[in-house]
Amino acid sequence: MATIRVVAVCGTRPDAIKMAPVIRHLQSAPRFEVRLVATGQHREMLDQVLRLFDLTPDIDLNIMTPHQTLSEITIRTLQGLDALLRTDPPDVVLAQGDTTTTFVSALSAFYHKIPFGHVEAGLRTYDKYHPFPEEVNRRLTAPIAEFHFAPTERARQNLLQEHIPAERIWVTGNTGIDAVLWVANQPFETEDPALQRALLHEGRLVLLTTHRRENWGEPMRQIAHAVCHLLEQFRDLLLLVPMHRNPLVREALVPLLGDHPRALLTEPLDYAPFVHAMRKATLILTDSGGVQEEAPAFGKPILVLRTTTERPEGVEAGTAKLVGTDPEAIVQEAARLLTDEDAYQQMAQAVNPYGDGHASERIRTILLEQLGE
Ligand code: UD1
Ligand code: UDP
Repeated sequence: MATIRVVAVCGTRPDAIKMAPVIRHLQSAPRFEVRLVATGQHREMLDQVLRLFDLTPDIDLNIMTPHQTLSEITIRTLQGLDALLRTDPPDVVLAQGDTTTTFVSALSAFYHKIPFGHVEAGLRTYDKYHPFPEEVNRRLTAPIAEFHFAPTERARQNLLQEHIPAERIWVTGNTGIDAVLWVANQPFETEDPALQRALLHEGRLVLLTTHRRENWGEPMRQIAHAVCHLLEQFRDLLLLVPMHRNPLVREALVPLLGDHPRALLTEPLDYAPFVHAMRKATLILTDSGGVQEEAPAFGKPILVLRTTTERPEGVEAGTAKLVGTDPEAIVQEAARLLTDEDAYQQMAQAVNPYGDGHASERIRTILLEQLGE
């Protein structure tokens, strides 16, 4: 029986987190030969995840530049993948989600007439600038993909509406849940003083992450104002803010929060410490996609710092609420959860609308069935 040759591409932190369990499962099956291609769209944030999952890229395009533009990421990734897919075409190219690394991987596979498998297919807001450019990245990936691995039934329905044939869509769960459950079960200790302070804090911990393009500048400063206000209102609160490497995030947050004695502004946390910080947190404020999927698994209420979400399942399950970036709305909702025990408990339900931790195994089985003849 012939080997199934796979090129798996990742570039950003969430690409690596969500592709790592898939790559690990494929690598452990004798029928598959996997080449891991890192675009390096993120440098440090990608590398730390790959190290955790003990993955070494076979090819590293190393495209990141400071303050990179969307066009630069696109052009540099397309050029790098073009050379690779032309000289040594695999049976399938796989990538996840909605990053520019992923969209360009699909495009490049298409140019070389290589089937593309889309992990985390079918998420939609149907608002093309929210989130930008992710909504359009994932929508443009759909017509190219041959295999659509939808995390939820709703994602499958979105794809069906777009006339993707039902027999090309599989509901697998989200591979990010495979990753987070695996990490949560590993032994963990830390010598990082900031993280130790957060994990040992006797009062309540609020965890904040923000990086979305729509929130750059004023909205992000508004978020910082809101959490300053919360710190003043609730004296037991400790705020942990692992800051994305994008310099624009620091420019918005540090001037307002940098000197506050109960705000810990840190470098991005490695994935394992971040998971433990989520588990310790009383409340999570975030504009991240992945964190919206992970927090419900731990029964952590999240206030989503956005006006739209492609992940409505958490909102419907009652663990997430869209609050946008208006400081009054953020303070009001957070204060309600911090003072009203019933309101808090209603949101603090552990549910897993995004997966059961076995999505990667399913993807491997499907690829074997589809490509293994
Ligand atoms: C990217 C994705 C976004 C995803 C996010 C996850 C696109 C267009 N955007 O956005 O969908 O939600 O990653 O975090 O694909 N930087 C570093 N080191 C790193 C990572 C980033 O220095 O390890 C800095 C660089 O200056 C870089 C900047 O951050 O130019 C922005 O990175 P980029 O990938 O362009 O955008 P993100 O906002 O990270
Ligand atoms: N994450 C992390 N360290 C941090 C912040 C987030 O490891 O300091 C993880 C988080 O658990 C989730 C993923 O990174 O799995 C989400 O990445 P990000 O918010 O950058 O991107 P998005 O999911 O919004 O595309």
